[in-house]
Amino acid sequence: MRQMLLILFLSNIFVYGSSLDKQIEKKIDVLLNQMTIEEKAGQMTQITLEAVSKPRVPGSFVNILDLKKLENAIVAHHVGSLLNTGGQANTLQNWRDMIRRIQDMATQKTRLSIPVLYGIDAIHGANYTKGATIFPQSIAMAATFNTLLMKEAARITALEVRASGIPWNFNPVLGVGRNPLWSRFFETFGESPFVVSEFGKAYIEGLQGNAPMGDHVLACMKHFVGYSFPLNGFDRTPAWIPERMMRDIFLPPFKTAVMAGARTVMVNSSEVNGIPTHSNHHLLTDILKNEYGFTGFVVSDWEDIKRLYERDGVAASPEDAVRMAVMAGVDMSMVPYDFSFYDHLVKLVKEDKVPQSRIDDAVRRILRVKFEAGLFDHSYPDKKLQNKFGLPAFVESSYRAAGEAITLLKNKEDILPLKKNTKVLVTGPTSNLLSAMNGGWTITWQGNEEKLYPKEKQTLLRAIQNTIGKEKVTYLPGAGFESLPDLISLQKKAEKVDVIIVALGENAYCETPGNIKDLSISSAQIRLAEAAYKTGKPVVLVLFEGRPRVIHPIVDKASAIVMGYLPGMEGGRAMADVLFGNINPSGKLPFTYPESPNGFVTYDHKPLEEFDLNNYEYEFPFGHGLSYTKFLYKNLRIDKKSCKIEGGVTVRVTVENIGGRAGLESVLVYGRDLVGSVSRPTRQLIAFDKINLKPGESRELVFKIPIKRFAFTNRENKKVIEPGAFKIYVSNLEQSFVVE
Ligand code: BGC
Ligand code: BGC
Repeated sequence: MRQMLLILFLSNIFVYGSSLDKQIEKKIDVLLNQMTIEEKAGQMTQITLEAVSKPRVPGSFVNILDLKKLENAIVAHHVGSLLNTGGQANTLQNWRDMIRRIQDMATQKTRLSIPVLYGIDAIHGANYTKGATIFPQSIAMAATFNTLLMKEAARITALEVRASGIPWNFNPVLGVGRNPLWSRFFETFGESPFVVSEFGKAYIEGLQGNAPMGDHVLACMKHFVGYSFPLNGFDRTPAWIPERMMRDIFLPPFKTAVMAGARTVMVNSSEVNGIPTHSNHHLLTDILKNEYGFTGFVVSDWEDIKRLYERDGVAASPEDAVRMAVMAGVDMSMVPYDFSFYDHLVKLVKEDKVPQSRIDDAVRRILRVKFEAGLFDHSYPDKKLQNKFGLPAFVESSYRAAGEAITLLKNKEDILPLKKNTKVLVTGPTSNLLSAMNGGWTITWQGNEEKLYPKEKQTLLRAIQNTIGKEKVTYLPGAGFESLPDLISLQKKAEKVDVIIVALGENAYCETPGNIKDLSISSAQIRLAEAAYKTGKPVVLVLFEGRPRVIHPIVDKASAIVMGYLPGMEGGRAMADVLFGNINPSGKLPFTYPESPNGFVTYDHKPLEEFDLNNYEYEFPFGHGLSYTKFLYKNLRIDKKSCKIEGGVTVRVTVENIGGRAGLESVLVYGRDLVGSVSRPTRQLIAFDKINLKPGESRELVFKIPIKRFAFTNRENKKVIEPGAFKIYVSNLEQSFVVE
């Protein structure tokens, strides 16, 4: 078969290599020339705030630095980076005071006055600063299919993080979510590499701006690479990813992010193909730094260099673990409690076991990013930014995102939207919890401390009460994730209402504590829904969950099912507005919702998986999402019948709102390469856009699609596009063209 190599894929080295700022490189030369081995090892060391803080008063939003410990870190050990929160969110003022003290120490008490680079997990807003704007989690943002909303959310996150004095955010997660069991599925943009790439890019552009300076913040691509596909579904467990799958599914979002200018990257905590990623030279250096031309720096994940020895047994000693990681390409170690990395590294360099050139390269990368972030000129919190925090307009942006994320999965006989005079019974474990709508990385790491949540924010119950009036709402408390409320009073209370709203899902979690052994929703929740069906009243199921928990046994009898994902702090309000018609839902699933606990087939499955249709089972397909209006798709056209490999096609389609309500519609364009030297997916998402149409209004959408969106890795592990027949699908329409 005739093939054509894409030289394009290799040309990045040149592009990025040449874009370095000569002025900055000169300043780095001057610094590097003066630095001792100790000072260099210190720049490569990152420790946690807890290691330089006094024990915290439980429940307090104020963290107190221990200045002796801080001095020991920054002055005696030359530490160049700090991270984290000291346990839970801090007040804006507290952050600003702490950062000022930390920079005082770094810039006034050290020989070279190199400012500290502070990093934080601001995963869905500045979630570690009290009172910040908290957005829907990434999985929900992806459901909006609106990258402008993502860019805006990231922009606001940047303002609030920088207002807190912090220039570096450990986000976005660019892992493609291909295993729904994984406890960090909600931190991803779902199962499509294209969606992850587009949202990752929008996030990075919003967060970093043109340069990560002033009121912008550095992004950190996470976690490089393959972390999101654990074979057994548990967090931080091995992935087995052949080169072809790595290059076609998992690497593209990182490559796009490097091209979008992301300046830092965090390493996958676990292992791929038997190689702990922190020791993987091929991934970290050959691909990321050399092939993609990444000129920023690589930070380890939490304690993960030590673990090469302590857990993985690929290093023979703690010192050897440091050597392996640094030689593989890790530039900074998130140690984060002690100075062991520093001590080992200094010794390794002095004994010539790690060449000077490698640490010079690492320190150059770190200093480059510090210069680019504007730290040498502005290391202190900016006064003006204090007022750019928690503004009402920011809160509205979060509300809008939640409203566009919420996905109407089922709506039998158009039971939704409910009329405002409907009497409802509200119950279920997620009906009255802010934590269940926010998930991990909210105020605390696990996000499950309900008492720390802002009192003025509305749970679903409160939002429904505010929307239709308290007198029309009956609440049945006592439903837990693992326990049932009093079912007799459910029966009794149901008699007095028109509709029952049962809010199900998951309690907040994050990382390993979120591991599950079964994707099914808890049996107590199945029984609660069944008890609600028994009352004979129509039942609306609302889901607040970070991953698609299997609900198959209760789907049939539900009158409506509404997916809220983890919609964030305004999620209760947005959900009530969807239920009662103030918002016309427009979210679409960014993943396939499985029907059974081991039927994980993604939308871009292979023909083989469809051969016997029983293999391709799902509860709701990728891209599914209903509206309160109806859209008609027509006139799908491709501008030419044939096109060149290096060229592209223009796809046009007209969408008309033929229902009675204004509505937003995400238009998803899929393609298929009909013949390939290795099997091709039955469908690949290659473009999307979102439009707003009034009743009766129609619009033609135009998509310019470069053929390289169909590139894949062939039998020789080369990226290629092969000529032949292709198809384009939009909704129920299809068209063909040929690539020559
Ligand atoms: C997580 C990272 C996070 C880091 C710092 C790790 O456990 O895997 O995603 O950025 O901790 O909190
Ligand atoms: C986690 C980090 C988290 C930290 C909070 C660690 O065990 O891996 O992600 O930020 O705990 O203290």
